Amino acid sequence: MCGITGYIGYKEATPRLLAMLKKLEYRGYDSAGVATLCDGVLAVRKMKGPLSTLANALSTERMAGTLGVGHTRWATHGEPSDVNAHPHTDVSGRIAVVHNGIIENYAALKGFLQERGVAFRSDTDTEVVAHLLNYYYTRESGGGHNALLDATLKTVSKLEGSYSLGIVASDYPDRIIGARKDSPLIVGLGVGENYLASDVPALLSYTRDVCYLNERELAVLYRDRVALYNDSGERIVRQPTRVDWDVESAEKGGYAHFMLKEIHEQDKALSNTLGSRLRHSAGEAASIDFDEIRLDASWAAAKRVVIIACGTAYHAGVVGKYAFEHFARLAVEVDIASEYRYRNPLIDGGDIFIAISQSGETADTLAAMRQAKKGGGRILAITNTVGSTLSREADLVLYTRAGPEIAVASTKAFTTQLMCVYLLALRLGELRGTLSADDGKDTLRALANIPQQVRRILDKETALQKAAARRFSKRSVFFIGRLFDYATALESALKLKEISYTHSEAFAAGELKHGAIALVDKATLVVAIATQRPLFDKIISNIREVASRGAEVLVVTYEGERAFDAVANEIVAIPETRDALSPLLAIVPLQLFAYYCAVQKGNDPDKPRNLAKSVTVE
Ligand code: AGP
Repeated sequence: MCGITGYIGYKEATPRLLAMLKKLEYRGYDSAGVATLCDGVLAVRKMKGPLSTLANALSTERMAGTLGVGHTRWATHGEPSDVNAHPHTDVSGRIAVVHNGIIENYAALKGFLQERGVAFRSDTDTEVVAHLLNYYYTRESGGGHNALLDATLKTVSKLEGSYSLGIVASDYPDRIIGARKDSPLIVGLGVGENYLASDVPALLSYTRDVCYLNERELAVLYRDRVALYNDSGERIVRQPTRVDWDVESAEKGGYAHFMLKEIHEQDKALSNTLGSRLRHSAGEAASIDFDEIRLDASWAAAKRVVIIACGTAYHAGVVGKYAFEHFARLAVEVDIASEYRYRNPLIDGGDIFIAISQSGETADTLAAMRQAKKGGGRILAITNTVGSTLSREADLVLYTRAGPEIAVASTKAFTTQLMCVYLLALRLGELRGTLSADDGKDTLRALANIPQQVRRILDKETALQKAAARRFSKRSVFFIGRLFDYATALESALKLKEISYTHSEAFAAGELKHGAIALVDKATLVVAIATQRPLFDKIISNIREVASRGAEVLVVTYEGERAFDAVANEIVAIPETRDALSPLLAIVPLQLFAYYCAVQKGNDPDKPRNLAKSVTVE
């Protein structure tokens, strides 16, 4: 996620803006910049790289002014570079804007502005905001005291997607404007000075009195007061809130750990992943349109998909195998990258190679991808990190748009990888004619529903906390499932083992009788993931097999499903969806289960022993 800061007062703005940005570094970023206003001149300094690089540059080139905005950028559109860094200015250089979020209709707005002669300098979605502000400010605001606010109201009314904005203009040395939709923005209230920030940690060194902007609200910060507005331009009166968090808990948004925060970000992250890729018609999800890649006929003609990845990303690939077979009737091979790279694999130039990696820097995945590329394969990368090595070396890139994932254990990266895999499989099914129009539309509607269903699961978090409290001390935990549930079982077992250090394994449920069941006894917890309706009888007999050997059984299945009442010790219910989409939902309670087991055992879920967030070496 990007970080926004703003300061207006009687002290030098630049040192404050930088200090506030430093408090937002935990959010992850790849470039930074500031804009300050002094004697009617708007100065902008921005660059790729860490905040320290910007600070060093500014230590020799002082940027004067007691008003300004600052930004740390986590790239979503346009690779990390000086020109893509924020703030962005309009053509006149009189307006500067910083932005956190994704403008989903930026391509259309860019076209509208280019048709009116606007020349763009960057590859970002944000730049359209700066030019749109100028468009309305110079054409429709009518000048005067509120002209900038009027232009801002008109501008945000045209934006689709998510945004929090910080805006300064050389014609208005007495104010900063903030606006938000689907991306947090907070006003910090000082004495003779006021602050703007994406998150509380940036403010705590200066004030604990804050005003949280609500959806579609705007704020005008003056030196001696703050005025709040709704998106119709009507004034709002709101009492400030007193923040009593310490800095560390503030960085986690009040959650105990980044992992829990990121588990809870999944509904929002999945909405961002879907974003403009899921086109609606008559208010319903109707088609898929990737704005950043073009799957032409040669991709549809592919005979095989080869998926290469590691760890959690590999498990997303296993879901991908079932999804591409199910929706696109494509042969799929999914490989652990560290195996693939040394296996002298068969590579056919007509194959589609999909490399999945949150960091885009995993050594084994990069090596496997390079091997496939050398053999003539076309590489499609699914990654969360813009400008990563993988994103730069692949032929096509699909970004998960999950925002930075700080915790070592991957959660929102996994579910957003799944969302990308499903979108690809459905799109290829459409192109290959293997997906009927009705089935396609029904599945897209179900997909569009997933983010709010994830939210419903997260709102029942306490049940998983209690389940973990009862069972965290089990010696072994086996996750079993069939088809898509087996893929969920793989990821669930990894989550539990890597943060709770409990021995846990995943089995295709049908495999138990081929050996694994010898391990089952009364010290075993078996988690049966049961969402594949045609196979309920099969999984029930597997449950009976393990229960008769003393295992406790926790079943994850659909709300209202009664088939498991007689065989489960406990049932965790998830909202109903298409069986083929169930991993998007079934994994969420099991992420929470793993997290609370780790906490019960006194572990730090964010920093599990022996593990690194990105395995950039073999
Ligand atoms: C996931 O919880 C693990 N931390 C690990 O397995 C991770 O998924 C794996 O190292 C791959 O990382 P990547 O997605 O950045 O390539």
